[in-house]
Amino acid sequence: MKILVMHGPNLNLLGTREPSIYGNVTIKEINSAISALALEMGIEVNIVQSNSEGALIERIHAAIGIYDGILINPAAYTHTSIAIRAALSAAALPVVEVHLSNIHSREEFRSRSFIAPIALGQISGFGPDSYLLGLRAIFNHLTKGL
Ligand code: DQA
Repeated sequence: MKILVMHGPNLNLLGTREPSIYGNVTIKEINSAISALALEMGIEVNIVQSNSEGALIERIHAAIGIYDGILINPAAYTHTSIAIRAALSAAALPVVEVHLSNIHSREEFRSRSFIAPIALGQISGFGPDSYLLGLRAIFNHLTKGL
């Protein structure tokens, strides 16, 4: 099983970015935790981060026929990007949307996700664990149809 893990814009700054909201854990530490869980579960993961909407879309296109699913934190593009949603729809791969913070308990504009309607589901508010829960969710979907 091959899963593409995608981090959207500004997530490269995790660790120092608004620590009261996103905590002190760096993207490197999150990626290590994802890789460790993937190894344990027998999943092959490739993890990418980009601040560019176009680059994220290109990576989604390149995932077609290669990956079994996409775990994505679209970051601010969650709330704005019809283009990323369209790319994910076109790829027709199972998608799990994750967020470190609880997007429903913050500013109103964050409650709206363009991605959620085409995702299997959304995991939001568990810090770095959101990614690990998301990886388990996509694995269970692919192996047991859950
Ligand atoms: C985020 C939530 C988004 O609203 C925000 O723009 C981010 C991070 C999260 O992981 O909590 O950049 O996706």
